[in-house]
Amino acid sequence: MFDFPIFDMPLVGHRLMFAFDAIVHVFISHGAAVGGSIILVLAQWFAIKNNDRKFDELAYKIFFTFFVLATAVGALTGIGIWIHVNIINPAAIGALLRVFFWKWFIEWIVFNLEMIFLLIWFLTWKARPLGTPGKKSHFKIGLYYAIASWLTMAIITAILGFMMTPGNWLASDFPTKPDYLASLMNPSWIPSLGFRTFFSVIWAASAAMMLSWFFTKQDEELRAQAMRFFGRILAACIIPMIVFGYWYYLQFPQAAKDLFTMGVITRRLIATPELATIVTVALALLSLASMLYLYFKPKKAAVWIALVMFIANAALISEFERVREFVRKPYIIYGYMYANGVRVQDMALLNKEGYLKNAAFVPEEYRNPTATTPPEIRIKTGEYLYQMQCRYCHTINGVNSVKARITNLGIQGNADALYQRIKGLNSAATPFMPPFAGTDEEMKALAAYLATLNAPPSQAAAAAKP
Ligand code: HEC
Repeated sequence: MFDFPIFDMPLVGHRLMFAFDAIVHVFISHGAAVGGSIILVLAQWFAIKNNDRKFDELAYKIFFTFFVLATAVGALTGIGIWIHVNIINPAAIGALLRVFFWKWFIEWIVFNLEMIFLLIWFLTWKARPLGTPGKKSHFKIGLYYAIASWLTMAIITAILGFMMTPGNWLASDFPTKPDYLASLMNPSWIPSLGFRTFFSVIWAASAAMMLSWFFTKQDEELRAQAMRFFGRILAACIIPMIVFGYWYYLQFPQAAKDLFTMGVITRRLIATPELATIVTVALALLSLASMLYLYFKPKKAAVWIALVMFIANAALISEFERVREFVRKPYIIYGYMYANGVRVQDMALLNKEGYLKNAAFVPEEYRNPTATTPPEIRIKTGEYLYQMQCRYCHTINGVNSVKARITNLGIQGNADALYQRIKGLNSAATPFMPPFAGTDEEMKALAAYLATLNAPPSQAAAAAKP
């Protein structure tokens, strides 16, 4: 954390920016690629089995949409994730690379294969019409594409699982005697992989139902057939998804489970925690009801029913990803590294020797605040500390504005009260914030800076006096 340049993301903040990119990526990777390949392979198998040319053509149209989304939006957001994580938390991505280096390497090769199969399957679909001998081998390419898609997800899910439940890896001695197998076989890997597999298929099937609505305007019989086909796949995945989802939930550390309600809704609504359940259940029911309607009354169903199902599912996925990210706080890798990139094991040293000592990109004069440091230097030092330890989750004026949070507490401009608050950042009331890493003087410098945010300059200068 300390030896990387600082990049501020005003107003929107890093958290929201990254969440947006990552969630769009999940929509595409899970829907268009993993789930999409599975349902389209099934659709092609169905078309071959029944020698159904119309169904084969419909599957191709859906594939076309998935293909464009996967290669354009999927690729953009995928690269976006790499850029984001490197800007936001290079220490965390460094730690993950050290632990998952070869697995990630393999994932990258499999991903290349996935793209090759995807291209061949897509580009040769029209040239291999139903009834020609080439159709069978064409089908096999689709199968390989689905397997490769799933394998890349399996490896990435291992990394995500590791971040939540590093398991026995934590007990092994890294980097001298690391237990790489433990990092892969972490407790939440298999359950989360099962959960993601089934929700990918559900998500893709719901997208296919919506797209079918548009692609079958002229042909009600085909529409009915498509709704039944994709609806059945969707329905078959609900129970396994719930079972895996519950198994996955059981793996979460207790402290993370305690944050669940807050993750679903915001802290300001926490007085009515049942709202979290109501929102989730309502979305699930909405999705289920629209699915059933499309299934049983495909000819009568209006397009908005397909859209409602699609949007409700998108909301559920976003909610899941948000909760998963939120409940892992204050950590980025549970029990190993805090969200601000500070390793748990380094805390004692940093608190003793100072956080800024190691901050290579901070100019020398701001690296050693003492009781006699002049106010301007002190405030600037505090600003660096804010940038390095708080900006992951806060902005000054925008999303989760630290200024607004301080005003809400009624301690604006009050450096002493701010210092006290910083001392107990990781308190029972705010367990999601990492503790401040650094010396007492560094905390005071941060408090001095925060005091300037909502106070007139004269008062701020006074507050900065030691
Ligand atoms: C891991 C994310 C994260 C980090 C890092 C973080 N915060 Fe927060 N902070 C939050 C969240 C989330 C809230 C609660 C927002 C809400 O009330 O909805 C919060 C709330 C606060 C509040 C209001 C607390 C209260 O009791 O109501 C203050 C003050 C604050 N943060 C200061 C800081 C400072 C200073 C830093 C850096 C040293 C920091 N935070 C780092 C996530 C974080």
